[in-house]
Amino acid sequence: MTDRKARIAVLVSGGGTNLQAIIDAEKNGIIKSGTVTLVLANNSKAYAIERASKAGIPSKVITKKSFDGDQNAFEDALINALDENKTDLIVLAGFMSILSKRFTKHFENRIINVHPSLIPSFCGQGFYGLKVHEAALEKGVKVTGATVHFVNEIPDGGKIIMQKAVEVLPGDTPEILQKRVMEQAEWKILPAAVEQISKEIIEH
Ligand code: GAR
Repeated sequence: MTDRKARIAVLVSGGGTNLQAIIDAEKNGIIKSGTVTLVLANNSKAYAIERASKAGIPSKVITKKSFDGDQNAFEDALINALDENKTDLIVLAGFMSILSKRFTKHFENRIINVHPSLIPSFCGQGFYGLKVHEAALEKGVKVTGATVHFVNEIPDGGKIIMQKAVEVLPGDTPEILQKRVMEQAEWKILPAAVEQISKEIIEH
């Protein structure tokens, strides 16, 4: 046993309900092997920044736009902030920006992502946020869910860590389905996976 906790950075772009689930899980002791020490947003309007500030967690906004759309410069700024934070684990929680191989290699096996479907369904480039649920409804699947996986250079292509299935019900809209998938799957498996990987990091 060790007293050390994994230092977690959460990357966000929007509402931050998954960030909130992680913050709450740390408070409730579901996450005990790690602690959120930094929140990075790629969008200055992300409500997630407010959630970080309410929880007393330092946050920083780093936008690609401020580097004139230069992906390398954007990622260098992210890497600097993450290295400065001595980050052990990076959690993509609704982070809507694809990261290059250069970035994912720098943090190999140290980046996890939550995706709102059962991978390999409805994933990869172009499948994010509500679009995932629109596609699931369009296809007529009766079961969907969420996946937490390691991040490599292939969008939604890294090793799967946890999945949870959620029923699709008659009359579902993308918004209704998104909310059910968040409540029944994402907000449960993301904190559980964060604890599992944090524990593995501090024990190795
Ligand atoms: C979540 O449903 C998350 O799974 C999804 O965006 C939403 C963010 O919500 N992520 C992706 O689609 C990534 N491909 P949040 O900001 O409230 O956590």
